[in-house]
Amino acid sequence: MSIPPTKPKPVTVPDFLSARSRGTRLTVLTGYDYTFARLLDEAGVDAILVGDSLGMVVQGHSNALPVTLDEVIYHTRCVARGVSRAMIITDMPFMSFQLSASQALESAGRLVKEGGSHAVKLEGGERTADAIAAIVRADIPVVGHVGLTPQSVHRLGGFKVQRQEHQLLADAKAVEQAGAFAVVVECVPTEVAAKITASISIPTIGIGAGPHCDGQVLVVQDMLGMYGDLKPRFVKRFAELGSQIRQAVETYCREVREGRFPDGSYSFQ
Ligand code: KIV
Repeated sequence: MSIPPTKPKPVTVPDFLSARSRGTRLTVLTGYDYTFARLLDEAGVDAILVGDSLGMVVQGHSNALPVTLDEVIYHTRCVARGVSRAMIITDMPFMSFQLSASQALESAGRLVKEGGSHAVKLEGGERTADAIAAIVRADIPVVGHVGLTPQSVHRLGGFKVQRQEHQLLADAKAVEQAGAFAVVVECVPTEVAAKITASISIPTIGIGAGPHCDGQVLVVQDMLGMYGDLKPRFVKRFAELGSQIRQAVETYCREVREGRFPDGSYSFQ
């Protein structure tokens, strides 16, 4: 008799909160499709963020602003089919929540109902507190996002480190008070991120925010060395898959052109 493999227990909002109180650091990576989602899930990542960074790393835009709600729903569905343990958090794209709290709630509802998201993430602190509160009232878990908010790229004049400590602390507090269960802190000095983490009780997930956050998030193509358009200082390349993929494809092209692939072992008799 074979013993069926035990299904891993899905990561939940209470797990995120208790990780912080236990001092266990949370691991988050972006993911946009089934194959990657499955690999990340099997490797034990706590959450997969279907980030609007897909506008850059999947769609080839220079920023995330063109990404639509329908596109993130599509990518979330692909991710959901590959995941059995990780929490799926989906980014709310530019202009899917800024009009009103009711627009935000309607968009978040579509992400959960049509995409299969477990939680949504939206950028902004004080300025998006009303939207966060409306979504949370409908029992949809929310992750905030403060510091460098990439959807503000034109106002900020580029993807720059954010240093206005007073505003950053106020934003993180507003996000917590509105009911978010975690907050992404992007591109702020290490000491400011540490102060934010100490000043709120929900987990902080850092990206370019140093080691004192409760967890970390990276764009998966960045940390695997597959995306060369931007090389931010905070990205550690844990692999160089870009050059491995190029080498494999070069070998394939050479072997096909030279008539060496497919040989007998890859053909039917
Ligand atoms: O869109 C995204 O991938 C993000 C992360 C960089 C945090 O928001």
